[in-house]
Amino acid sequence: MSVMTSVMETIARFMPDKEHDPLLDTHRFVGKPLERVDAEAKVTGQARFTAEFDIANLAHAALVYSSIAKGKVVKIETDSARRAGGVIEVLTWKNMPRMAAPPLVDINDLRKGMAASDLPILQDPMVHWDGQPVAVVIAETLEQAEHAAALVEVEYHSEPPASSFDLLKEKAFLPPDVMGEPAVVKIGDAEKAMAEAVARVDHVYATARYNHNAIEPHATIALWDGDENLVVLESTQSVYTTGRSLALIFRLKPENVRVISPYVGGGFGGKGGLWNHTPLCAAAAKAVQRPVKLSLSREGVYRIVGGRTIAEQRIALGARSDGQLTAIIHSGITATTSHGRYAEQCTFPTRHLYASPNMLIEQKVVYLDTVANTWMRAPGESIGTFALESAVDELAYELRMDPCDLRRINEPQTDPTRNNSFSARGLVEAYRLGIDKFGWSSRNPEPRSTRDGKWLIGQGVATAYYPFYRFPIKVRLRLYADGRAIVQTPAAEMGMGTATVQIQHAADRLGVSLENVSFQYGDSNLADTPVMAGGSNQTASIMAAVQAAVEKIHKELLVLVKSRPDSPLAGAKLDQLDARSGGLYRQGADNAGETYSEILRGAHKDFVEVEAQSGAPMEMMKYSMASYAAQFCEVRVHADTGELRVSRWLCVLDCGTVVNPKTATSQLRGGIIMGIGMALTEETLFDDRRARIMNPSLSEYHVPVNLDIPNIEVLFLNTPDDQAPAGARGIGEIGITGAAASVANAVYHATGKRIRELPITLDKLM
Ligand code: MOS
Repeated sequence: MSVMTSVMETIARFMPDKEHDPLLDTHRFVGKPLERVDAEAKVTGQARFTAEFDIANLAHAALVYSSIAKGKVVKIETDSARRAGGVIEVLTWKNMPRMAAPPLVDINDLRKGMAASDLPILQDPMVHWDGQPVAVVIAETLEQAEHAAALVEVEYHSEPPASSFDLLKEKAFLPPDVMGEPAVVKIGDAEKAMAEAVARVDHVYATARYNHNAIEPHATIALWDGDENLVVLESTQSVYTTGRSLALIFRLKPENVRVISPYVGGGFGGKGGLWNHTPLCAAAAKAVQRPVKLSLSREGVYRIVGGRTIAEQRIALGARSDGQLTAIIHSGITATTSHGRYAEQCTFPTRHLYASPNMLIEQKVVYLDTVANTWMRAPGESIGTFALESAVDELAYELRMDPCDLRRINEPQTDPTRNNSFSARGLVEAYRLGIDKFGWSSRNPEPRSTRDGKWLIGQGVATAYYPFYRFPIKVRLRLYADGRAIVQTPAAEMGMGTATVQIQHAADRLGVSLENVSFQYGDSNLADTPVMAGGSNQTASIMAAVQAAVEKIHKELLVLVKSRPDSPLAGAKLDQLDARSGGLYRQGADNAGETYSEILRGAHKDFVEVEAQSGAPMEMMKYSMASYAAQFCEVRVHADTGELRVSRWLCVLDCGTVVNPKTATSQLRGGIIMGIGMALTEETLFDDRRARIMNPSLSEYHVPVNLDIPNIEVLFLNTPDDQAPAGARGIGEIGITGAAASVANAVYHATGKRIRELPITLDKLM
């Protein structure tokens, strides 16, 4: 919700509630743990990812990355690269096709495109970060391109970069807004209430830099048809904004840019915005008049795709002796760049989780000379909940109170900063179930009280939170006379089960069997609409549009019936009908109706098609809407070596209706594993003198592996949210939130050591 929509928010309060969705009472497939429709294609290797496509006459590109962080290319020697075998062209700023600067993301207007940085791409000799592309080599094979790229010699004039977060944080400043929300929220007088509080905690929590490591590195294939038509195969979460960005950069009509994204091997925010490789690949294809493939190496992803900012957050909590909060202060500092300007929304969870008469929430930023930071795995909420939920645990110890009780008594009745009602909020219920299933009550709260030989055992808990987002988007729906239905929208499938859950939902809405429905996605030609996989919005956004499309197609079918007065549906109104058994049937006793095939054949039609758009997301303006969870975990810490093992995990969620418990559980497990990575192993090592990432590989950037992860149990309350499409709120990102705090809280319980700086490595426990 942005500052700009606050007027809409006021209007929304006078709007009627959404009507109860009858699907919630009648669904057959929504809620079933069905196999993914692409399971076989994935496990047999038939599912092809962008870099796996081969097309006639394809050339390959490789990038040369700057080895300084700030300054200027003064000389670039490309002769030996040009003479190397198979080389077709070497592009530098001097001979690059001209391109407009990329459109920086503006979440309120996606038609402009969505790039992570607005720096011109290889249009001048200036260098703004270590790793910025300074040349593109195009050759017959990938190996030839990479070999020749190594032969390019660059001379720089180097200037000292702004690189040290620690040195610059004193000069942090308020950004104009934080993802459209105000950077500062003040209620009452929090500093005064802190000073007067009976119990208080006041600490700074530090989180590391993190890099994206989707299993599929970013890749592009670009083909031009003349100078005006561009087709791009791209590994992206957002074909629509990728197309819009490219149209702007190459000054093309948006309808002349087609972006195709078949399967995506993970995105997590790192494939949301546009990064340099995509326009560079298109420019290379233009320059050599051939299709070009640019597939980033793992190191390439570290150099030109941003990750999560380093951050420092002060959380101060003041409470009465009964635990009631009287003051909450959350002030965060994150890093960003002058060319990306993304203030990661770390204070967002604090705006919605606890009641307090006094609050001071503010976020500041510093600018560093690095690759643009970006969205990453619940941006804001994951690092924000680490700080907040660690502090709540600290306050519970201060008060000698159970941390679940402390959270329960501070549960707000209305949204603490927006003052509106919650659409639904089962957080207390999630804790209740979690306490029972995890066996929380038998825990001795005393730190260092539980051992198994040399192993210190601790249990921790923390709240997980992620807001509900829905975008108004379009889908196309076609019903064929043979009974098949096709839903089309340019959505992204990056492993979550997008197609599977949409088929479940569309089949229920239409009242047809699963086999009769297909879902087509990943191609901007399917519909001109800003659907994207980000902010955990995609499932709900598409379901709302499908609901609109099904209503529209039903109306059209009733129009078709009018030509046949003998039809059992003649004269029927839509609200007297049910969609079931492959058609429309009257409700109640007379039960008469026709299948879709009968209606279409009766009208001598092969198919009927509609395009429908869902309405503005008034529900998220009227209500405070989010998914919530309680994350319980157990750790074992070796008393001598500090070796740390997560031994148990339970996550209990309220995310509304669970459309597919199987894919949802997988999704949650993935998020929680990322949370364990954030807590224990992941850290981008950054050389402050040179502003250079020092561990750009999976061998030195440690993501958790199988042995690091225990069985993760996920339970859903599965209570439909009447304000959400089909009752379902988002599940994509909440898994990582609260997870690192839960681990840190368990570590404190096990060892008596409060670690406020991630990752929690052995040295911090010795
Ligand atoms: Mo998500 S970090 O909005 O892909």
